[in-house]
Amino acid sequence: MLASLFLLALSSVVSAIPVKRAQPTDWMQANIGTLGSRPLRHICIPGSHDAGMSQINGGTAFSDAANTQTQTLSIGGQLTAGSRYFDIRPVITDGTYSTGHYSDITEIDSWQGSNGQSIADVISDINSFTSANNELVIINLSHAYDTDAGNSDYPIFTQDQWDALFDQLTGINHLYVDPNPTTVDLSTVTLSTFIASSPAVVVIVQPDDTIDLGDYASQGFYQYSQLNAYNEYADTSTLSTMESDQLTKMAAQRGTPDQSYFLLSWTLTQSTLEVLGFGDSILELANTADPALYTALPPKLSTSTYPNILFIDNFQNDGKMVDLAMTINTNYAS
Ligand SMILES: *[C@@H]1O[C@H](CO)[C@@H](O)[C@H](O)[C@H]1NC(C)=O
Repeated sequence: MLASLFLLALSSVVSAIPVKRAQPTDWMQANIGTLGSRPLRHICIPGSHDAGMSQINGGTAFSDAANTQTQTLSIGGQLTAGSRYFDIRPVITDGTYSTGHYSDITEIDSWQGSNGQSIADVISDINSFTSANNELVIINLSHAYDTDAGNSDYPIFTQDQWDALFDQLTGINHLYVDPNPTTVDLSTVTLSTFIASSPAVVVIVQPDDTIDLGDYASQGFYQYSQLNAYNEYADTSTLSTMESDQLTKMAAQRGTPDQSYFLLSWTLTQSTLEVLGFGDSILELANTADPALYTALPPKLSTSTYPNILFIDNFQNDGKMVDLAMTINTNYAS
């Protein structure tokens, strides 16, 4: 009895000792000697799926944390943990901009979902991180819906709604403006060009055919085609199916490091039953998928074939994704 109590006490002391991280918070800057001269296409970075959804700030009747929460760390927490690519889905709710996670549930002919961190919070998280770290941060905007309209059919943003969002996002410090802002292929820009002397934030966006970036195209906002990624998720909740889907796609898309800029979409998607609450939550699925990456990916890596973005749910502050990205950057990429 006493012995087991002692062991219990000992194990809680042991688990409280912080894991030594191989890479510092500003891991890009710390490795600029190795990575600085490389274009983004020859670098691997960790990234966050549905990055704003670490909080649930209201939503529709059939949504809850189990079927909309994808992260447990805020954008600031994910930045500190090493993530550098953020899938941000802006919505309008109560007349303000927030992140959100919404889907059209065709079975009930209704849009369902929740709101995450506000866009104002996202901006201040990025600014406080870049005030202390000369790192590159990539923001990808998509799935923009006006949820103040009735949820039988959420409309996508109008030009005015996009413009007001862009205007708010110009509050991000250190937006990177390329000398050729409308024609540059960002995957060919070297890391030093972005962050040799300051932090850099790049926003990529593709509103749709009828909406344009206007003046924001020369203020740090770029079209998807300017960081043209292969980005195709498996759409399954089964780990082995997702693994073979993504590793097969990687092999096909990345025969050489100059082929597609490749996002490895290492996420599981809930089945309809899981969405309804029968089975694993999104975070539980992530806790299955994330550790599997450390064993499934390395055997498939070579100097010709490696991913550019390790894209996951539930990004943790244990240093492991950064370590994996840096292992790729050191042993395979050049
Ligand atoms: C940005 O998001 C869109 C929409 O999900 C996607 O099609 C595109 O590939 C993404 N870009 C990158 C660099 O991942």
